[in-house]
Amino acid sequence: MKPIIAGNWKMNGLAASVAEVEALIAKFAGSAPDDRDVLICPPATLVANLAAKFSDEAIQFGGQDCHANSSGAHTGDISAEMLADAGAGFVIVGHSERRADHGESDAVVRAKAEAVLRTGLTPIICVGETEAERKAGKALDIVGAQLKGSLPETVDNIVIAYEPVWAIGTGLVPTNDDIAEMHGFIRTKTRKDTRILYGGSVKPGNAVEILAIADVNGALVGGASLKAEDFYPIVMAAQGED
Ligand code: PGA
Repeated sequence: MKPIIAGNWKMNGLAASVAEVEALIAKFAGSAPDDRDVLICPPATLVANLAAKFSDEAIQFGGQDCHANSSGAHTGDISAEMLADAGAGFVIVGHSERRADHGESDAVVRAKAEAVLRTGLTPIICVGETEAERKAGKALDIVGAQLKGSLPETVDNIVIAYEPVWAIGTGLVPTNDDIAEMHGFIRTKTRKDTRILYGGSVKPGNAVEILAIADVNGALVGGASLKAEDFYPIVMAAQGED
């Protein structure tokens, strides 16, 4: 399975951030390796610019969210069709920050994932438990329920990202056994060929270890994706497709 190393820039990035992508490509000595998918999800304002500028470089670009409808009276929202038109190949949906900041339910996340599939793009559907839920021994139940509620009907071309909420931006990471347990569990709920990413404080120093865990088919990287010098070693830490 071809791993995906995806950078989630969140609400960071201005026109000058083109320089970070250039620096990343320079580290690849020309073009990103094609035995792994290298993806950057910048803020929506930058997708068209970056996708046009780096169309030959084997780096792909994606959105961080979309509306479930294709167009209409939804001030401030962006549709999957618009992201596709801007050159995106993927769209993150159901990130825990959207679930928390915007009250997105599993049903909303599913509708967004369906919208992404409708445009021919690939949704990266995020799930993950809070610290209290893990401490209460409910992590598998919570993630199981999120998958049941958030996955679209057709799961041919989806990516799932397991991101424990307590590991995002905190420097905390589950044990390798806990990651293996959760990814193995998610595998039982999806297809054999669905890529399951781990996200939450992935850094150059822990990426090799995390990416070697069974059923971890890539990473969703926040803070460490903002600088080429951090993101590059994470991209290279993935075992490329045979
Ligand atoms: P982090 O964020 O790598 O900064 O922990 C991951 C994410 O939220 O996707």
